[in-house]
Amino acid sequence: MAKQRVLTGITTSGTPHLGNYVGAIRPAIQASLDPSQDSFFFLADYHALIKCQDPTLVQQSSKEIAASWLALGLDTDKAVFYRQSDIPEITELTWVLCCNAAKGLMNRAHAYKAAVQANEEAGEDPDYGITMGLFSYPVLMAADILMFNAQRIPVGRDQIQHVEMARDIAQRFNHNFADVFTLPEAVVGDDVAVLQGLDGRKMSKSYNNTIPLFQTEKQLKKSINKIKTNLLEPGEPKDPDDSTVFQVWAAFASSEETARMRRDFDNGIAWGEAKKQLFELVNGELAQARENYNRLMDDPGYIESTLQKGAERAREHSASLMQKVREAVGIAGIS
Ligand code: TRP
Repeated sequence: MAKQRVLTGITTSGTPHLGNYVGAIRPAIQASLDPSQDSFFFLADYHALIKCQDPTLVQQSSKEIAASWLALGLDTDKAVFYRQSDIPEITELTWVLCCNAAKGLMNRAHAYKAAVQANEEAGEDPDYGITMGLFSYPVLMAADILMFNAQRIPVGRDQIQHVEMARDIAQRFNHNFADVFTLPEAVVGDDVAVLQGLDGRKMSKSYNNTIPLFQTEKQLKKSINKIKTNLLEPGEPKDPDDSTVFQVWAAFASSEETARMRRDFDNGIAWGEAKKQLFELVNGELAQARENYNRLMDDPGYIESTLQKGAERAREHSASLMQKVREAVGIAGIS
C-alpha cells in the first residue's frame, strides 16, 4: 500500500508551551511512528516573518522548536524534519502560485479579513499596517504543502481555510497547465485536546497565559500553581468540567487516572492538592525530555546539522517537483 504523506509546519515565533505539546507536537510524533505514514515536519520560519519583526526572537524560536521536537523523541530517520528557509524551491513556487491564485480568494482569508476589520473599527485606513506578507500568507502555505505532494495536513481549526485554499490553488494550476499537484486535505484531530491556559481561555501566546513546555521543575510548579481556580474550600465538591486544572490533568493522564480525579473533584479535593498531583503528573511525562532539551540547547551545532540533513532529504523532492512546475509554465532551458 502506498504511504500517506502527512505534512505540517510550525511557525517559529514563540516558545513551545503545553498547549502546543498536547495539541500538535505529541500527536504528530506519535503518528510519525505509524509505518503507513510518511511524515514531513518543518519549521515555518518565513511564516514567522509575517507577524514577528524581531530577528532575535525568530532565531531563538527556531532553535527552541527544533530542540523541543528532537528532545521529545522525533525520529529524523523516519520523519523528514527541516526548515522552510533551507528549501529555496518553496519561495520559488510561492511566486508561481501567486500568479495563479485569485486575489479574490485571498481577500477572503480570515487572518487578513480580521486585520482589515480591526482597522475599520479603529477608524484607520483599511490597509493600515497590512503587509503583502500577511495578504499572501495562504500562498506561501500552499507552496509548503504542494511542494511535497502532501495528502494529509494536520492543523488547528484556524488553519483549515488555508489548506482549502491550497487545494483550490492546486486544482486551478492542474487545470491550467499540467497535473502536477496532489490535492491536500486538512485533518483536525477530534481527540486532540485544545488546552486552556492559566486564565481559563485557550492556551495561546497571544493571550500571554501559557505554561512553557521546558521550564525548570521549579518554574513548572509555579506555573501550575498560577492556574486560575474558584474559591471553593477543601471538602466542597468541585466541578471538573469547569476547571482548567482538571482539563490539563485529562490531557496528560490515562483514562483510569482521569476517572479517579473526577471522583476526587466530586469528593472535594483541595485545589492545592489537585495542583500538586497535576505538577507531578506533567513533570513525570516531561522530565526526561527536559533533560534532552537542555542538552540540545547547549549543542546548537547538532541541531543545525540535523536540520541540514533534513533539508537535503526534503530537497530531493522539492528540486524535481520545482522542475516539473517550471516546465509546465514555460520557464525552462531553450531547446
Ligand atoms: N500557518 C501555520 C500555523 O500558523 C503553520 C504552517 C505554515 C503550516 N505552513 C504550513 C501548517 C503548512 C501546515 C502546513 O499554524
